[in-house]
Amino acid sequence: MEPRHSKISRAASSIEFFGYVSDFLRKVCCMSSDVELGIRWYDERASDIAEQYCRVGFADVHGWLMEWLPPVESSPLVLDVGSGSGRDAAWFAERGYRVVAVEPASALRDEARRLHPSPCITWLDDKLPELGAVGEMGTAFDLILLSAVWMHVPKAQRSTAFRRLRLLLSPGGLMAVTLRLGPPDVERGMHAVSVQEIRFLAGLFGADVEHVGYSPDALGRSEVSWAEVLIRG
Ligand SMILES: C[S@@+](CC[C@H](N)C(=O)[O-])C[C@H]1O[C@@H](n2cnc3c(N)ncnc32)[C@H](O)[C@@H]1O
Repeated sequence: MEPRHSKISRAASSIEFFGYVSDFLRKVCCMSSDVELGIRWYDERASDIAEQYCRVGFADVHGWLMEWLPPVESSPLVLDVGSGSGRDAAWFAERGYRVVAVEPASALRDEARRLHPSPCITWLDDKLPELGAVGEMGTAFDLILLSAVWMHVPKAQRSTAFRRLRLLLSPGGLMAVTLRLGPPDVERGMHAVSVQEIRFLAGLFGADVEHVGYSPDALGRSEVSWAEVLIRG
């Protein structure tokens, strides 16, 4: 007959095992519901958000990036991830760049397409961390823009997301990431971000950080400021 203490230790290991499993499932479910929460937030406010984001111009938000842009004569391909109102995609398209604009919130994507009906923009329903639809295009990008999006990627998904972005970057291509500093808005599915983390991920995936800068919030929110990070693949 099995001694009592071994029955107890077997029961304890089972409890521990189920504890790990339920903890894992809780984390996975929270992560995906967090992402969905963020996307739904934008969907429910699509026209207000589009109007708000288009109130500031590309140059007001991304003036720092101008000197780094690939010359339009080389027909560069731009990927705008989390393109929101389409303000940035439209800016590039108007200057002759070809743009793939990825936006997972369908109402916001429709609003952006309506506001900026440019033949130079391909609108895609896709999202980080996988960017599966972009991957299926089988193309590499000369410039990848992540403007105010990284805080929507849960920490546990960030190395997958960065790896995917790195694979989509053409050799010598640039990735511009703007990071929202300040208290994350949890109702909108946001998480804390840092320049340090981006430096770490760039190092991990063999990319170089070329530039880091800081700016106040273009929409005038005192509790929010921005870090701009430029990564070269
Ligand atoms: C703060 S807005 C920024 C929009 C635009 N890039 C800009 O700078 O105005 C964040 C955008 O990221 C999108 N988003 C949220 N989660 C995402 C994800 N996992 N992958 C890609 N985009 C996401 C939202 O739908 C929203 O359009």
